[in-house]
Amino acid sequence: MKFNKIAPVLLVLSVFIFLKQASAQDGIDRKVDSVLSKMTLAEKVGQMNQYNGDWEATGPVTKAVGDKLAEIKQGKVGAVLNIMGSAHTKMFQDAAMQSRLKIPLLFGQDVIHGYRITFPIPLAEASSWNPDAIERAERIAATEASASGINWTFAPMVDIARDPRWGRVMEGAGEDPYLGSLIAAARVHGFQGRSLGSIDAVMACAKHFAAYGAAIGGRDYNSVDMSLHSLWEVYLPPFKAAAEAGAATFMNSFNDLNGTPATGNTYLQREVLKKIWNFKGFVVSDWGSIGEMIPHGYAKDNYQAAEIAVKAGNDMDMESHSYIENLEKLVNDGKVSISLIDESIRRILRKKFEMGLFDDPYRFINPAREKSLLNLPASQTEARSMAQKSIVLLKNSNQLLPLSKDLKTVAVIGPLAKAKKEQKGFWSLDIEPNEDITSVIEALKKTAPKTQFVFQKGCNIDDQSRAGFADAVEAAKTADVVVMAMGEAPDMTGEAKSKANIHLPGVQEDLIKAVIATGKPVVVLLMAGRPMIFNWTADNANAILYTWWLGSQGGNAIADVLYGAYNPSGKLPITFPRTEGQIPIYYNHLNTGRPAANDKDVFYKSAYIDLPNSPRFAFGYGLSYTTFDYIDNEPTASSARIKDNGSLQISFTLKNTGKYAGEETIQLYIRQMVSQPLRPVKELKDFKKVFLQPGESRKVTFTVSRDMLYFYNDSLQYVTQPGDFQVMIGSASDDIRLKRAFELSN
Ligand code: NOJ
Repeated sequence: MKFNKIAPVLLVLSVFIFLKQASAQDGIDRKVDSVLSKMTLAEKVGQMNQYNGDWEATGPVTKAVGDKLAEIKQGKVGAVLNIMGSAHTKMFQDAAMQSRLKIPLLFGQDVIHGYRITFPIPLAEASSWNPDAIERAERIAATEASASGINWTFAPMVDIARDPRWGRVMEGAGEDPYLGSLIAAARVHGFQGRSLGSIDAVMACAKHFAAYGAAIGGRDYNSVDMSLHSLWEVYLPPFKAAAEAGAATFMNSFNDLNGTPATGNTYLQREVLKKIWNFKGFVVSDWGSIGEMIPHGYAKDNYQAAEIAVKAGNDMDMESHSYIENLEKLVNDGKVSISLIDESIRRILRKKFEMGLFDDPYRFINPAREKSLLNLPASQTEARSMAQKSIVLLKNSNQLLPLSKDLKTVAVIGPLAKAKKEQKGFWSLDIEPNEDITSVIEALKKTAPKTQFVFQKGCNIDDQSRAGFADAVEAAKTADVVVMAMGEAPDMTGEAKSKANIHLPGVQEDLIKAVIATGKPVVVLLMAGRPMIFNWTADNANAILYTWWLGSQGGNAIADVLYGAYNPSGKLPITFPRTEGQIPIYYNHLNTGRPAANDKDVFYKSAYIDLPNSPRFAFGYGLSYTTFDYIDNEPTASSARIKDNGSLQISFTLKNTGKYAGEETIQLYIRQMVSQPLRPVKELKDFKKVFLQPGESRKVTFTVSRDMLYFYNDSLQYVTQPGDFQVMIGSASDDIRLKRAFELSN
């Protein structure tokens, strides 16, 4: 059939689908209104109240389970968190079914990087620059969680983070708004699946709204002081992407933004999120954050805190008890209008309807499903593949890697060589038995059965003892190659895990020095939830793999990469500083009036006199076992001007010039040369992954279009400004291989 014949059919079909969806929404709105009309004020306030389960998670247990169950039966609770496993969730839903209106509970959980199977920490996954793989990982997490009674995850965390001291850097996608936005959308799609009504969908929650990652000094929960321009340009884009991807909920944040706590921030919640972005879901507070407006000094008591939060657009109270204890009185005292309460209830009930919970409150609570869907071999395979993609090769002198399986003796040294559970990192749920996880040394032994592996711990992660150094050095001397598994403890990153000193902890770098002094080839594996500082190692080790925390399949994935079953393809999603004094350091900064031309240029320049400006490892950096040439065989772009909604193409040839098949992540950055206000020296706008066999070449074409050139002007309008631009294409933000100039005209 010709297109002009199909077109009317397609049109009718899309109108039909649109009308069907619209009428389903109308249907839900009618149902919501019908429930709302039956609710007392106390029951409405109950829907806005969320309690923790019965163990300490990220806050203290504030009520006994029995008391909570009694309140649920009275219709005083709309959602709970940290109740896991179908038996446990059933007990709570049973209580809700004994309430007058039988409104089902929501079950929330921090499913941050996997449920039963742990995937790499989100920052590691971001190193894959592979939103499709990330979406698949979240699909598995959602399938497992939903089979266990969970219907709401407090993820994705989409906070931009430019400060590796901040412990929660591990939970996000790093420093870049573009990459962060793609990953935010991928995670939402992964969690929510085909639609919210699917049996394997969990509601996503984009958090922490907003600018939590910009806490001053990298200290968790600290104040944020930032221009609205930076907020819109850098920190809000991933939230906008999550909202556009259909995230069912948002969570606000602990920080204040320019003097107003996010939880009580009308501009963020009502103006930006609900009005400008037309967000139809609901906003939950962070844990206790309504009550925390008291120590902030923004509210004098819980009564005032509840009033501020509800007026600012915070729909549900997580664990501060401020709503349940005060909202009814606030309405009766005439301080809060019932229409505000009704608006929140509509938002909350709509999601409960969309999730199908009114049709069947037990639809996610099914022990048979739980048994059949958890820990599937295919999901473990996906976790292994995600872990491989998350590893970043930082150094590989003289092609030490990949290792040969014929090596006679390999010494495996370091406090993390035998780590099992630790490989899961922070924010992993404690459901996976230790025996299910393969340590690095176990995985190496399986992969290279002919090699003899000798183990020495050498030192602990974070103390001053050198008692194990001598044995480690002796083991190294007997070996052909040494593999050292070093890094942080898993609880050195995560919530409330900020550090002022982010060097490789304890005496680990001294152990590396002692082992390297043997003259043996040394591969260093670095496991951590943040960028660490390890300058001596970076200068002197033969090979370095940054493995982050890779989850259940970490050991296997590391062995796959060490022996070349997988050629590393990860690229850093965050800048690695040379030392803490450079922080915050990020690639997409503005130019000063006195920019330093290079690292030696300090004469009255914007530079340090005691340290280069450049980072240790730049955003976008990551090596492969092979090498790629960018062959500039088209010296001019197809057009050097973009007019109206036109675009231009830039092509070149990528050639694999090394010995191994491998994947390159080609990055496209753009700079507007002159503009008001200023634009960054470069901004990531696109990237492509190209896999090539040794010797293979492929033509690569990028399209540069006007929509890549928009930014927020001084009045926060999203605009383009005509003028000169530069496109930079390369292998990392500091490894640009091709440049093109072009002009944008109106
Ligand atoms: C506090 C954390 O900031 C938030 O990210 C998490 O979802 C809640 N606790 C619930 O555990």
